[in-house]
Formats: sequence, structure tokens, C-alpha cells
Amino acid sequence: MPRLGVNIDHVATVRQARRGIEPEPVFAAFLAQAAGADAIVAHLREDRRHIQDRDLFLLKETLQVKFNLEMSVADEIVAIACRLQPHQATLVPEKRQELTTEGGLDIVKHFKKIKSTVGRLKGSGIEVSLFIDPQREQIRAAKKTGCSIIELHTGAYAASMDARRQKGLLKEIEGAASYAHEIGLSVYAGHGLNYSNTAQVARIKPIEELNIGHAIISRAILVGIERAVREMKALVV
Ligand code: PXP
Repeated sequence: MPRLGVNIDHVATVRQARRGIEPEPVFAAFLAQAAGADAIVAHLREDRRHIQDRDLFLLKETLQVKFNLEMSVADEIVAIACRLQPHQATLVPEKRQELTTEGGLDIVKHFKKIKSTVGRLKGSGIEVSLFIDPQREQIRAAKKTGCSIIELHTGAYAASMDARRQKGLLKEIEGAASYAHEIGLSVYAGHGLNYSNTAQVARIKPIEELNIGHAIISRAILVGIERAVREMKALVV
């Protein structure tokens, strides 16, 4: 059974909609931890669209489970990671206009920069994971950077509406996971996983950890709305 990393970015997305103080992502992280999350994941984007620098330092100080910082290879962000000292950093590609992380890192193309970033983070005592598409050439290149973990991008599998194609994409993830495990990498997976497509990925043996955000935060809104309305209703009698 893989461990579960809960990504809390979208709690911060709601807070940033008003630039206010609620909902507090650190509070959400605590509740996730109490509910059994094995890790908390937060992405400090260069555009600071959701998670802010202060969130990270509060999380680092207070969390009792693993803290996994998602980040780009931008020098400013790498410097923050080295000061923050999360247990793990996950390198992802980042584009200004994207709605969420689109595609994995192209390690083959950006090998030099990624390898030097992995070296800087590892040198600072941080374990490094690379978020990549389930392709052998990317896995081989990842291994050569010196990272110890890869996170396989499950987005194409999760978004597929065609059952046959989805099965094929699951097989691809399975093959990539076995290959990465064989060459000595720890294998994680994530992106787009939800309440109907996660169990199939969780059954893939070498996968040790799943990182899930959007589906959990979306469900939290729906399962929590009745109680929230009842509590407000009680105040306005
Ligand atoms: N893993 C990585 C590397 C990601 O970039 C993201 C999105 O921030 C996730 C997992 C979680 O994706 P989702 O929010 O679709 O569950």
C-alpha cells in the first residue's frame, strides 16, 4: 500500500482569492496529518499564485510528517528551498500561463540545469524527486542526475475518457515503475488522481507514494458544505 502525500495548494488558492487569512493552509495540513496523510506537499510557484513563502516556513516548523516542497529549478526558489530545508524537494516544470503542472520535466533536454539543481539540493541535505512522464529515456536521464526518487506523471492516464486508452496508459505507468525500480530509483506517482482512478495506480507494486491534491480539496468542499451552512444558519437565528 503506497503512502499518501496530500497537496494543500488549493487551500491557499481559495485564501488568495481574497488575499485574506482564511482558509489557513497550515490548519488544513494539520487536519490532513491527523486524518492519516503520510506527507504534506506544497508548491511554491514563482508567480506565488497560491502558496506563499510564510506558509512554507510555518509548515516546516510545525509538521510532524514529511514535508515535500514542489518547486521549479529557478535560482530564487532553489535558494528558498535550501533555507527552508524540507525533507524532500520535487522538481517540476513551471510555466506562467498554465492552470496546473503540464507534463513532466524534460530531463533529456535540460539535463545540465536539472543535474546541477539536484546537486545543490542534495548538497544542502534535501532528498530530491523528479516529476517525469512515464518514459524510459526520462527515467534513465533522471537516474544520471543523482536523484533518488522519481514521481511518474499520471495526468494523461487520469484525464483519459477512453477506457481502452486509459488501460494502455496504466500499463505504461506500470512498465515505467518497474524499470525505474530495477535501476534503483524510488517510485512515486501523481497528478489528476481522484476517487475513481487512484486504486488502479495504488496497486502498482513499485509505487511507494501517491501525491494527490485537487480531488481531495474538491471533495473536502463538498463533504464539508452542509456542516458549514448549518453552523452559519445557527448564528443567524
Ligand atoms: N504531483 C505533482 C508533481 C504535481 O505538480 C501535482 C500538482 O501540483 C500533484 C502531484 C497533484 O496533482 P493534483 O492536484 O491533480 O492531485
